[in-house]
Amino acid sequence: MADDTTDTKSSNQMWGGRFASGPDAIMEEINASIGFDKKLFAQDIRGSIAHATMLAHQGIISAEDKDKIVHGLNTILSEIESGNFEFSRQLEDIHMNVEARLATLIGPAAGRLHTARSRNDQVALDFRLWVKEELEKTEQMLTGLIAAFLDRAEEHAESVMPGFTHLQTAQPVTFGHHCMAYVEMFGRDRSRVRHAIEHLDESPIGAAALAGTGYPIDRHMTAKALGFREPTRNSIDTVSDRDFAIEFLSIAAIAGMHLSRLAEEIVIWSTPQFGFVRLSDAFSTGSSIMPQKKNPDAAELVRAKTGRINGSLVALLTIMKGLPLAYSKDMQEDKEQVFDAAESLELAIAAMTGMVRDMTVNTARMKAAAGSGYSTATDLADWLVREAGLPFRDAHHVTGRAVALAESKGCDLAELPLSDLQAIHPDITDKVYDVLTVEASVASRKSFGGTAPSEVRRQIAFWRARN
Ligand code: ARG
Repeated sequence: MADDTTDTKSSNQMWGGRFASGPDAIMEEINASIGFDKKLFAQDIRGSIAHATMLAHQGIISAEDKDKIVHGLNTILSEIESGNFEFSRQLEDIHMNVEARLATLIGPAAGRLHTARSRNDQVALDFRLWVKEELEKTEQMLTGLIAAFLDRAEEHAESVMPGFTHLQTAQPVTFGHHCMAYVEMFGRDRSRVRHAIEHLDESPIGAAALAGTGYPIDRHMTAKALGFREPTRNSIDTVSDRDFAIEFLSIAAIAGMHLSRLAEEIVIWSTPQFGFVRLSDAFSTGSSIMPQKKNPDAAELVRAKTGRINGSLVALLTIMKGLPLAYSKDMQEDKEQVFDAAESLELAIAAMTGMVRDMTVNTARMKAAAGSGYSTATDLADWLVREAGLPFRDAHHVTGRAVALAESKGCDLAELPLSDLQAIHPDITDKVYDVLTVEASVASRKSFGGTAPSEVRRQIAFWRARN
């Protein structure tokens, strides 16, 4: 349980003024967050440097104390970065670990750093900065995944594959078109990320415990120094708000859902039964008993990560549900959810980008599959509407009879002799065979956003310009 010893006799050196004794071991264990919030050390130190600089600028602390504080904080930063910092659970969290070390390094001046702030606005700041950086990283990673799809789409703008609904062969499409569907999905994820960055781009520091402060602080100055657009406007909301974390998790959950659909398709496509793609050795594994196997483990794990991310989203929504304003300690449980989801999302995007870039596409298998299952039946119905003037519903019925006949003969629609087709409808001519090939079917679907190679290329150009 405990990773350092607890001195139950002495009270907390940071807030223990009114306490006669220290906490019970269990109290310390349930209360401490240092085990996970040490991840926020860089943001914590950056925030403190900005705060101290502002305090000195406003004449709230002396320039001399500010210099000592900033120097001490930079020392601590390099101590932590180089692994030469001893985190203490008795000091609860990252904020008090840093401040206690500062006191050891620079003496009494350290005690002035916490003027006009509270851990409530401090943690809101640190966590916001962390989530903002993570969103920026996610944006970049999504851009990489989109680029991988654009390259594959360009390469396969003309490669015909079966398009599915209900996972049953529906109509022929191109693999390029299918890739571009994912570009749209991950493009939406990326714009959600950008909106989330805009939403959270307000600085919490200076809200203090919840009510603001009587010191003449300048919140615009700290906001600017920390790269925020502006300070938050309501001090109560500032310390009780975790929307930015929940938005991150919602975005991660939606992106995770998209990734899991891609993962599932890759799992299906890479089966010997489908054989549409072959994963590279770099993104598959073998079986310890069956030598012939090549397993899509990475895709399966991406599919599973979605479960973890959804769990984190539901956990944080539940943690926040019903909390009275403003800060409650419940909110300390926000970080592990976000850290875990961020790690899962990063891994999932990276693994998928690699798989998409590396996989070998078997265009012959895709084309053969595209032609089976009467995938050009709609083209026959459309031909009857266009060339024989039938209402679509009648054409649908006639085509259904042609499909039934082909099925009973065990052949494709294009293999039915003209006499058979004319027996079903006398207006059918041999021109109909032109629309029964998968290439003709695909090339004809030139409607905006359709599967025709010319249209797919237009969409690729649009996304290249955006990416
Ligand atoms: N470790 C705390 C957290 O993560 C920091 C804020 C503590 N504030 C307080 N009033 N006890 O939420």
